[in-house]
Amino acid sequence: MPDTFTRSTITINGAELPLPADPRVSLLDFLREHLHLSGTKKGCNQGACGACTVLVDGERILSCLALAVQYQGRTITSVEGLAQDGTLHPLQRAFVEHDGFQCGYCTPGQLCSALGMAAELRRGVPSYVTADLAADGVAFSQDEVRERMSGNLCRCGAYNGIVAAVTEFHTQETP
Ligand code: FES
Ligand code: FES
Repeated sequence: MPDTFTRSTITINGAELPLPADPRVSLLDFLREHLHLSGTKKGCNQGACGACTVLVDGERILSCLALAVQYQGRTITSVEGLAQDGTLHPLQRAFVEHDGFQCGYCTPGQLCSALGMAAELRRGVPSYVTADLAADGVAFSQDEVRERMSGNLCRCGAYNGIVAAVTEFHTQETP
């Protein structure tokens, strides 16, 4: 087959895979329906709930609003890519220890969103509640967590546990 017909690729949880032939396939449907990575959840399918959050090169996005082909050559991490060698990611362990979930439907999105948020704090990206926009970095606070995670809804109301888990993870990562 000539090179012009070679399918482009995307890296999902460390595996380089061909993109779907149909350019209309969302990244969320590509993960769930084509690759059977059903950890990433479909809630509203219109950008309102955060259940579909994944990481693209470490930045969080809503996969229901993204076409898979947009991310040609990029590296996607879904919830299935967080544990390593059978060991939960420290943030996953913190969610367990702090009862950061009940039904668990929102949890994959919460986890990916919290990891993306931690990277934003490290980069000094301000939020609506950041007091000092001129500071080099953004100080961690529970207000920052609640504001920055406000796009990830939890119908079970596990918010206190989620904030506690994210706080413990942040404390561990940045002693
Ligand atoms: S399913 Fe993507 S934001 Fe709700
Ligand atoms: S744990 Fe049930 S929706 Fe969040």
